[in-house]
Amino acid sequence: MSLRRVLTGITTSGTPHLGNYVGAIRPTVRASRQPDTSNFYFLADYHALIKVGEPARVQRSTLEIAATWLACGLDPDKVTFYRQSDIPEIPELTWLLTCVTGKGLLNRAHAYKASVDKNNAAGEDPDAGVTAGLFMYPVLMAADILMFNAHQVPVGRDQIQHIEMARDIAASFNHLYGEHFTLPEVVIEDHVATLPGLDGRKMSKSYDNTIPLFATKEQLRKLIMGIVTDSRAPGEPKTTEGSALFQLYQAFASADETAEMAKAYAEGIAWGDAKQRLFERLDREIAPMRGVYEDMMRDPASIEKTLKAGAEKARSVATPFTAQLRHAVGLRPLFSAPSSAQPVKTAKVAAPSFKQYRESDGQFYFKLLDAKGQLLLQSTGFASPRDAAQSMTRLQKEGPAALQALAGVLASQADPAAVSAALAQFVQAPE
Ligand code: TRP
Repeated sequence: MSLRRVLTGITTSGTPHLGNYVGAIRPTVRASRQPDTSNFYFLADYHALIKVGEPARVQRSTLEIAATWLACGLDPDKVTFYRQSDIPEIPELTWLLTCVTGKGLLNRAHAYKASVDKNNAAGEDPDAGVTAGLFMYPVLMAADILMFNAHQVPVGRDQIQHIEMARDIAASFNHLYGEHFTLPEVVIEDHVATLPGLDGRKMSKSYDNTIPLFATKEQLRKLIMGIVTDSRAPGEPKTTEGSALFQLYQAFASADETAEMAKAYAEGIAWGDAKQRLFERLDREIAPMRGVYEDMMRDPASIEKTLKAGAEKARSVATPFTAQLRHAVGLRPLFSAPSSAQPVKTAKVAAPSFKQYRESDGQFYFKLLDAKGQLLLQSTGFASPRDAAQSMTRLQKEGPAALQALAGVLASQADPAAVSAALAQFVQAPE
């Protein structure tokens, strides 16, 4: 029986805070202990280059995030724990994938579109300040995932689109070169709360409202004392709803402890006392890990060694797989060249096509054919050509994402991977 492969990465662009811990680090460390999975966890330092541009910060963050993961209990003997930039096969795969990725698909990426929208609103050139790195971000991420044929990718909601793109890219590659890649699934930790920060908004580096996971005890106390509360006096009952302090407490406490805190709120606990309780509860969970973290931060060479060992494990998969992929696309030793008499399949992205037509029943239909003219999709009958065209255009514009919404007007569908791959090629640039 083959194990379920789970893979996730953290971009090395900052210092881990409580939100990262509760939302990503703690759940992945717990999940890594499940016996029936094979886990790949990595430091996405190539991704960091896209937004950081400060070498010292990238290096520092890589060290901090590696030490954090280890201090929080990730066991590098049980998982494959590595640094992205130690795997030269990843940028190589990025290029192979780039060549089967529709530019239109990347035009639709939220992060890129947000930059374009911002520029447009400011009356600037749409691509002002946008690097090709930002544009290519989803392809690099697809390479991370597809290199290890991950089945499941646990991420935050903001990353869902990237996983969908990795599926589309994998399907395009498979369609052209054969079934090499597993289509990954996104895993959203629904029960994991989004933590509020010091000011009550989502805890995030961009709001500058974070509590670093491994702040010293004194810093932690100070930051907690600075959490925004309302002006209710001691003795006045307080509401737990919308209370950042309460939500933070809940993310660390047991159900019983949380119920007790809710009772204390109702009974009018003073904010200062509530903050003290929160501090003590947090510190109880964090202090033992903080000790390990501080020791590790004093010994970067040992972390470097751990990462190198992880890279070796990862490359024992990546190196042979890349050789297979190189062969598949035609990057081959010349002694095995096909004779010129053999027809050579051209390595260009197959061009599927849509056709609209009228049947003898008087109704209007459309269908999607692959490059060889094989039927991939067929619509149900429409009374008017306009209606048929409308659904067809929507598929061309939105690609595989529209399939579900249009399920009602699709009479038949071929292999879903082939359909998705073909549709992905139609997706048009935003105006
Ligand atoms: N882009 C992800 C983030 O910012 C990090 C990341 C890079 C990642 N490659 C990945 C996550 C592959 C999951 C799988 O959160």
